[in-house]
Amino acid sequence: MLLNQEQERIISGSEGKALGLALRTLVEYGKVFGAKRLVPIKSAHIAGTFGIIRFKSFYSILKQMVDEGLQVRVPTTVNPRPGREFSIQNRVAFFHQKNLERTLEKLGVIENYSCVCYDEKNIPSPGDIVAWAESSAVQYANSVLGARTNRNSLLIDVCSAVTGYTPEFGYLLDENRRGRLIVRLKIRKMDASALGYLLGKLVVDMVPVVEHYDFSKVDLKNMGGAMAASGAVALFHVEGITPEAPSFAAVFDGKPPKEITITQDMIDELRYKGPVDMVIFGCPQMTFDEIMELAPRFVGRKVKKPTIFFMVPAAFERFMETDLYTKVKDAGVRMETCCPVSALTALQGMYKKKILTASGKTYYYLDGSLYGTVEDCLKACGVMK
Ligand code: F3S
Repeated sequence: MLLNQEQERIISGSEGKALGLALRTLVEYGKVFGAKRLVPIKSAHIAGTFGIIRFKSFYSILKQMVDEGLQVRVPTTVNPRPGREFSIQNRVAFFHQKNLERTLEKLGVIENYSCVCYDEKNIPSPGDIVAWAESSAVQYANSVLGARTNRNSLLIDVCSAVTGYTPEFGYLLDENRRGRLIVRLKIRKMDASALGYLLGKLVVDMVPVVEHYDFSKVDLKNMGGAMAASGAVALFHVEGITPEAPSFAAVFDGKPPKEITITQDMIDELRYKGPVDMVIFGCPQMTFDEIMELAPRFVGRKVKKPTIFFMVPAAFERFMETDLYTKVKDAGVRMETCCPVSALTALQGMYKKKILTASGKTYYYLDGSLYGTVEDCLKACGVMK
């Protein structure tokens, strides 16, 4: 790999052993994927925010970085907290949470603790190269914002944050950002999250181009998050909506693309119809707009099943200042700012509850959870007939 003078100097260890090792890690990682150089990044997003008791090597590497005084070189946001207070099991499983957070703070990260970092704390411009981990955030950065990042892993994200570089391959290159197949929609009632879940399963790691539909930002977030979980999709386009797909002609290379069709029946087949024990909203975490859209449905009502909103921490703070906050609280909704999947996994493992979610991503990752549209969830928790 071709390194510039600064990179050669760093890798030689003259700016510290930990920084040298971080850059060397990126070089070796890039070589595996055929990268020819390291390119500077505008921001990073770190996924390793769960203080899991078994991640000893990860903590020891972070400690080495902090001991040598390393700090992130670009604005760097971090993923949600895991919900350590949710259960005794979580307190044990996430024993290192406080230490991990202190270490991340010493590295100089922005303490947003959200996977929806692009909502207000870390918003790249079209064409910006960034190095993000967290598949749902990667998906949004690439697809909706037109920034460029690969699906980086734990530790690689940290190495990029402290060096300010990422290897150039994959979704950083024009040729890998072109559409690979057209997605036709025969859907009477759109459910973006279910659509994302189905697309991930069907296209796996291709770049799908969905025919025009007027998706909201919240739809794009939830659809992308689901697609990146049930498949390995890191970039999708929507004709006439996302920045790199003003038209089909612009996003395909002129070759006749393959087509798939998603129908209403395929979406309806995912929906669970029976009684449930709990209803959860958010994943990726709910943004302020999403909370404000849902909150009025709870005004003057009482939930009949335990119901939890999982929200972006900054959005929750804004929500607390609105009149709706007390009304939603009075309706019996529990409000949290952690990650639902990590918060509920241990409890779900023990008690096998029927948890209904409108998130295709939670449905994929939370063992035994059930899927419903937002309306199904509102009906299940008893605030809608
Ligand atoms: Fe975010 Fe946790 Fe879902 S990190 S995307 S809320 S699984």
